[in-house]
Amino acid sequence: MDWGMKNRISKIIRPETGRAVMLAVDHGYFLGPTRDLEVLKKTISPLITYADSLMLTRGALRSSVDSQTTTPIVLRVSGGSSVIGESLANEGLITSMEDAIRLNAVAVAISIFVGTQYEKQNLLNMAELVNQGERVGVPVLAVTAVGKELGKRDQRFLSLSCRIAAELGARIVKTYYCDGFEKVASTCPVPCVIAGGPKLETELDAFEMTYNAIKKGAVGVDMGRNIWQNPKPVAMIKAIRAIVHENMKPQEALKLYECEKNLKKSAAKKK
Ligand code: R5P
Repeated sequence: MDWGMKNRISKIIRPETGRAVMLAVDHGYFLGPTRDLEVLKKTISPLITYADSLMLTRGALRSSVDSQTTTPIVLRVSGGSSVIGESLANEGLITSMEDAIRLNAVAVAISIFVGTQYEKQNLLNMAELVNQGERVGVPVLAVTAVGKELGKRDQRFLSLSCRIAAELGARIVKTYYCDGFEKVASTCPVPCVIAGGPKLETELDAFEMTYNAIKKGAVGVDMGRNIWQNPKPVAMIKAIRAIVHENMKPQEALKLYECEKNLKKSAAKKK
């Protein structure tokens, strides 16, 4: 692997721990103004310094992130469909490699919808993106998407999708946590991170999912809603960081979350 490619990957998967906390705020590219992500800047600003990298579209980046940020950018470059359209899987490339480099992205991200009528189109798009990325040292992160079919998130489907993504050249794969996740991770020859999916009922649920994913072979998370739809998103991302980078157990992470959550309250009381 060339220096540029290695260097970019090291901005996502931190060399100190071999783990990654990615903050996903790309949902608007097909969902529009998602709850708690209505005003991008408002959601991103308090969280960005706690993320190892930030995943979003070029429009979100240019409009809502300070160009002086030191947080590396992973650029979502697939899209072209919406939640009210015919199929979420009918995606194409929405950003050129040239623009990704202009924006100083450390990786480009593309969804693949395996098993859908658009499978071939998605996979060929991904392969072409890999060709372009490898030419200039930009890693491709493949997202094993399920669209609206959340029930598809099982071990057999995710193993299949992750393996195909890696075989076609993705340097990192983003997938979902599931029962039997160890098989998903162990049969994927490149590092995988997990998405959080829709907001879970409790903080502990999110901490347990993160802890188990790491224990079973994920290198980290690329999480969105379970962080920024939480009423205390900063406390949430700090606790997730502690699990990913310090192997903190879920119950301890919950204590950390509670403590961080009450920090401002007790500071306000003292005044
Ligand atoms: C979905 O396709 C988006 O790419 C999100 O980045 C991804 O689902 C992660 O966000 P969340 O943790 O909210 O699922």
